Amino acid sequence: MLFGVVTKPDDDWWIGRNTPDIDHLNKLESLMFQGNGYFGIRSSVEEHYMEEKRDMFVLGTFDKYEDEATELPNLPDIVNFEIKVDGHVLKLNHGQVSNFQRSFNIRNGEMTRSFIWKFEGNEYKLKFRRFVSMAHLHLFVSKVEITPLANNVRIQIKSGIDGQQTNEGTQHLIEGTKRLFNARFIQMQTRTQESKVKFALTEYHRLYLNKKELSLNPHLKLNRRQVYANYSVDLDKEQTLSVVKYANIYTSKDRDLKINVSADSLANLKKISRLSYASLMLESSEVWNKKYWNKSYVEISAHNNKPQIAINFARYQLIANTPHDFEMNIGAKGMTGEGYKGHTFWDTEMFMLPYFIFTLPQKAYELLEYRYLSLIGAKRKAHQGGFHGAQYPWEAAMPEDAESAPIWGNADIVTGQPMKILSGFLEQHVTGDVAYGVMRYLKATGDQSFANRMGYEIILQCAKFWASRVEWNNEKNRYEITDVIGPDEYKEHVSNDAFTNYIAHWCMEYGADIIAKLRQENTTIYDQLNQKLSLSELFKALIQKASMMYVPKPNDDQIIPQDDNYLSYKIIDVTKYKNAEKDVEDVSEIFKDFDLKQLDRMQVTKQPDVLLMMLCFEELFSKEVIQKNWDYYEPKTTHDSSLSYSPHAILANDLGLYDKAFEYFEKSCQVDLGMNMDSSVKGTHMASMGGIWNVIVEGFGGVRVVNTATHS
Ligand code: BGC
Repeated sequence: MLFGVVTKPDDDWWIGRNTPDIDHLNKLESLMFQGNGYFGIRSSVEEHYMEEKRDMFVLGTFDKYEDEATELPNLPDIVNFEIKVDGHVLKLNHGQVSNFQRSFNIRNGEMTRSFIWKFEGNEYKLKFRRFVSMAHLHLFVSKVEITPLANNVRIQIKSGIDGQQTNEGTQHLIEGTKRLFNARFIQMQTRTQESKVKFALTEYHRLYLNKKELSLNPHLKLNRRQVYANYSVDLDKEQTLSVVKYANIYTSKDRDLKINVSADSLANLKKISRLSYASLMLESSEVWNKKYWNKSYVEISAHNNKPQIAINFARYQLIANTPHDFEMNIGAKGMTGEGYKGHTFWDTEMFMLPYFIFTLPQKAYELLEYRYLSLIGAKRKAHQGGFHGAQYPWEAAMPEDAESAPIWGNADIVTGQPMKILSGFLEQHVTGDVAYGVMRYLKATGDQSFANRMGYEIILQCAKFWASRVEWNNEKNRYEITDVIGPDEYKEHVSNDAFTNYIAHWCMEYGADIIAKLRQENTTIYDQLNQKLSLSELFKALIQKASMMYVPKPNDDQIIPQDDNYLSYKIIDVTKYKNAEKDVEDVSEIFKDFDLKQLDRMQVTKQPDVLLMMLCFEELFSKEVIQKNWDYYEPKTTHDSSLSYSPHAILANDLGLYDKAFEYFEKSCQVDLGMNMDSSVKGTHMASMGGIWNVIVEGFGGVRVVNTATHS
């Protein structure tokens, strides 16, 4: 298994690099992301470079700029730390760098960077370290040590809060106010332009000369959307200047707010900044250990420790990006970058939820509670489309939002025009996927209280949507679903997509099962839901529509057609696209040769559709049929989504294709950690992180929830 980071054979929690990688900063910024489920920071380094992408997000603070899609605003940067030595700014593309090491401790999210910098006859030893605290949700702490090795020198430090960040050019924050408290604490208060979420960020620095604290007040510098503390210290050769930066962030959405963002932020930092870097780091590490690592550890014996590092890394990323609060969910790229704007997709229920269900069920509960709260937006979306019940958005942001998917994408290779992204309109299977996630949670945990309070209602609202969505085909005497996009997004406006039809059918059956069960066993809950959903009418509709619903069955060759037309299209050799580097600026290799209209007429699949359906409903198919469909669809799949590898690995393992299973497992691990330095630039891939765990536990380990709806 080849990784684009260095690993150590005897340390399962360490990844690093031995070169400064100025040309590949973005990948490491994502991989070494630091977060605690409240806020998260890309690991951009302290000094500035042209290629850097600084991002900091607080979950749930979405803002919308005019006609653009709502997104998590990129917040003021608190990581910056400029060092001048005798008037020269430290930058690694000037002078000479040796003994470079950048390390990331997966166990507690601490990043360290150390090197010797030789510049104009002097040599400096530098060490940077920092973390986002798991013990104090609002807190970021960093420490910088500088030692001149050859001569005495004047060191000037500029460190502060830089609100000149944008989301690829869009400025979500107003200018706000900047000020100093008690001569030492710098603060910026601001708010988002449209959603009016307020923020306060406070910073405080403690300086030490050879470990003895200096009592120095900063010289303040204010620019537009920037506030900096400046310090100047004369160092003798071999003296060490250490600077500890304490920074926090509060928002008006915080449930733990006592007075207001500014007062809370200041009071919190005053208290916390009395503690040392080491003791705060220790406190944070203890929370990581106690809450996460000491439980449900996955241990892998292999010929090297790469798979073990991959699963530890995947778990770190999942935990660091999972909201601390039930009004939020996990973005497709978590908080690790601006890709997908912080939006939540089916990725959560279909790819990440199993990890939480089996190891942190309370988190799984909260992730589903978010979907319960989102029934407001989902009902509105159904209503807007002329349907009933709840239709979940393809891309979700705030629970009350109906749909957050953007409308325009990359340019079409043939027409040169921007391509319209139809997923927000046509990719409807998510409404089955959410219900499927609830079913898995209920079956694994037996959490009856969740079922009664939220779970049944989610499933029934989804079932009601499907009952209104299916269309009667008079000629064929059956219900169908036309004009959708299935998981294979290379086919638009398709009829009877296998995955969509199966999950819609299952959802209606499961809904009918629930109503029948409640009528018999729990009249109180039945009555409550009856008020909202008119259950006897819904029951009749579900039974009738599910029993007459078309779900594509294996044909004479045992192949399930992906949709009504797929099998009639031209077959092309996709080897070149399968093997292409993925995630290079988000344009798949295949779009360099064809546009979507052309792909629409080819048997080319972006990511599994029939095969994923077979994994979800494995009890319906014989091994022989699954094998036939594997043989048919796997060679036609380009894996242009990172979601593609893990289901293939699990299915290959089920089929006894162990080499293939390992190959796909390796690919899942390499989505972010692999050699391709252009991957993960806009953030890591959360579904793939969940997928790594799924392959190990659900695939190789064989532990999974099997669906048990009636199946008429
Ligand atoms: C995939 C979707 C996925 C989305 C976000 C797309 O490339 O095709 O299935 O939900 O990325 O991860």
